[in-house]
Amino acid sequence: MKVFILGGGGREHALGWKMAQSPEVKGLYFSPGNAGTSELGTNINANPADVETVLTRARELKPDLIVVGPEAPLFAGVADRLEEEGFLIFGPKKRAAMLEQEKAYAKDFMQRHNIPTASFKVFDEAAAARRYIEGKESALVVKASGPALGKGVIVCDTPEEALAAVDKIMVEKKFGPAGEEIVIEECLEGEELSLHILTDGKRVLSFPASQDHKPVGEGDEGPNTGGMGAYAPASLVDAGLQSRIDNEIVEPVLAGLEAEDIDYRGLLYIGLMITEKGPQVLEFNCRFGDPETQPLMLLADEELVPLLTDTARGRLSKSRKIKTKKGYSLCVVAASAGYPGAYKKGKRISLGKTEGVVCFHAGTRHKDGEIVTSGGRVLGVTAFSPELKDAKIKAYEALDEKIVGFEGMYYRRDIGDKGLRKLEGRTDETPGD
Ligand code: AMP
Ligand code: GLY
Repeated sequence: MKVFILGGGGREHALGWKMAQSPEVKGLYFSPGNAGTSELGTNINANPADVETVLTRARELKPDLIVVGPEAPLFAGVADRLEEEGFLIFGPKKRAAMLEQEKAYAKDFMQRHNIPTASFKVFDEAAAARRYIEGKESALVVKASGPALGKGVIVCDTPEEALAAVDKIMVEKKFGPAGEEIVIEECLEGEELSLHILTDGKRVLSFPASQDHKPVGEGDEGPNTGGMGAYAPASLVDAGLQSRIDNEIVEPVLAGLEAEDIDYRGLLYIGLMITEKGPQVLEFNCRFGDPETQPLMLLADEELVPLLTDTARGRLSKSRKIKTKKGYSLCVVAASAGYPGAYKKGKRISLGKTEGVVCFHAGTRHKDGEIVTSGGRVLGVTAFSPELKDAKIKAYEALDEKIVGFEGMYYRRDIGDKGLRKLEGRTDETPGD
């Protein structure tokens, strides 16, 4: 079978790497892909969010399955158009992808279906937003409602900061049209979890919960990035929390989709804050997370293609957990110096190999017979081991000993530490399935 993967980051390399292990998969195509994906299949230089170009390529390739990695093609309606043309496409249609595309829409959806989330108000006018903030004393979060590549969220400790955030988003228009509408919400405290579920809107196949590390600096300091590392399973989740997540979050989300006749077939990513009151939803994404997918693909102990095709066809037979290896996987993102701000490209990358470590490519490309950096997040160095601490040691060894690396490489040194601290305080540890 032939699979066409849209996207060119670490997530798409990880999905392709997992699929390439299946004897059924005879051809893998990526658009645009990166230097890593070109070793698994063929890269096609096209913008995955350009629906007509994707359709033309799909007509030429005749893939048995098209998998959409990033959100932009889904917002552009690639799933609607390609399904109309008879292709089997993994990724929700435009209407369902609204859960990620418009934060105000997602919050209203949660409110309608009693899904726990921070209390909020939506504004399309700066003056009204300012009046609302002036009556508050607590910390607030100000969010551009539209898509802003994960950067449109400002956590504000004081009302003054919240007022400045409104100006930045609505007056200075730092996030362009994404900030025409904003959501102001209560600031939640707790630890974050990423939930990845494959769903056809009725049944759910769940990956183990993972933890991302969004801020650029150690100890979660500094500006947010696309994600500087992730590990799974998240040690925070015990049986009690899992059942609260299932009952209080996943079930009402599915019931809401059904009640509103939203045809959701794809991956639903639920960003959670685990507060003292219980799990609360921070956001929905309508695609796999990056970098969470990298450790999830090392953990998964069953073939991916049947899971994705059954989801895309709306034919999941029952809800269950996806089989995983017993142990932990941890991914450290190696970024270009300066990221998430300005950074240089074109640095030569060395790519030595270590046992038990997979180096997923993100911003990489070929140039004059070498592999060079071409983005902010460059590599996702991902290890698997029965113990979390050993997975961490393996991933960091590859970086610290410069087995993989490039000039100006930056990475956080504390990926997985929250999980390690939890494990040290716990004795009932049974990772995986
Ligand atoms: P979002 O894109 O809505 O998930 O927000 C990006 C990041 O901002 C989250 O991963 C959190 O770290 C933080 N955040 C968003 N909403 C809240 C909230 N209500 N309370 C505290 N932190 C938040
Ligand atoms: N790692 C966060 C995301 O993919 O949105």
